[in-house]
Amino acid sequence: MLNDVLISPSILAADFLHLEDELASVSNADFIHYDVMDGDFVPNISFGPGILRTVKRGTDLPVDVHMMVSNPDEVFRDYLDAGADVLTFHAETAKHAHRIVDEIHKRGRRAAVAINPGTAVSSLEAIIDYLDMVLVMSVNPGFSGQKFIEHTYNQLTQLTKLCRSHSVRPMIEIDGGISPKNAAQVVAAGANVLVGGSAVFDAPDHAQAVEDMRRCGLMGMELRRL
Ligand code: DX5
Ligand code: ZN
Repeated sequence: MLNDVLISPSILAADFLHLEDELASVSNADFIHYDVMDGDFVPNISFGPGILRTVKRGTDLPVDVHMMVSNPDEVFRDYLDAGADVLTFHAETAKHAHRIVDEIHKRGRRAAVAINPGTAVSSLEAIIDYLDMVLVMSVNPGFSGQKFIEHTYNQLTQLTKLCRSHSVRPMIEIDGGISPKNAAQVVAAGANVLVGGSAVFDAPDHAQAVEDMRRCGLMGMELRRL
């Protein structure tokens, strides 16, 4: 499992007019990535808990919910009620991070914290022992189709060190501008869950794009061993 590379297609880049078909087209993935944007923490508005219930009816895959909201302490329970399997909130936003993580775990779900490209990895120090996953943003969140920020490799390297020093091995998800072109490199630097928005849903064959990301990611696992 820890040497696997997991793929999480972001339906922010899907064709909403055909959401059911879009979900079916990536059934070979490991998660569905569901981007919640509130127009405050990020300059865009996407979807909330209502559409999450619809998405849960359209897929058997676990749904990985990425909350880009200013008030996660107030709204996170709505996403648990709607069926989030993995629930991510941003380190820059939470008032009581341990309390949120505790409640996610009490509901039997997995908990993750995300950091923006400009947020220090050290801000995870106090919470890292309690997390199932860390999400490293490789673009400033808000939109699909943005360019990968190269500083992300440093973030991944520092996060790997932090996890080692705490003897923990959470999943490390990377989100923003990921494609088969950089999948091997980000996995080599420590990521093992790859979010793909435009790289999956703008490709002519979505299932093939998922496999391409996985195959390239697995090459990165080989690089780690060298
Ligand atoms: C960006 C979102 C991402 C986005 C990824 O704010 O969190 O999940 O949909 O899209 P791509 O892979 O196109 O950068
Ligand atoms: Zn996301």
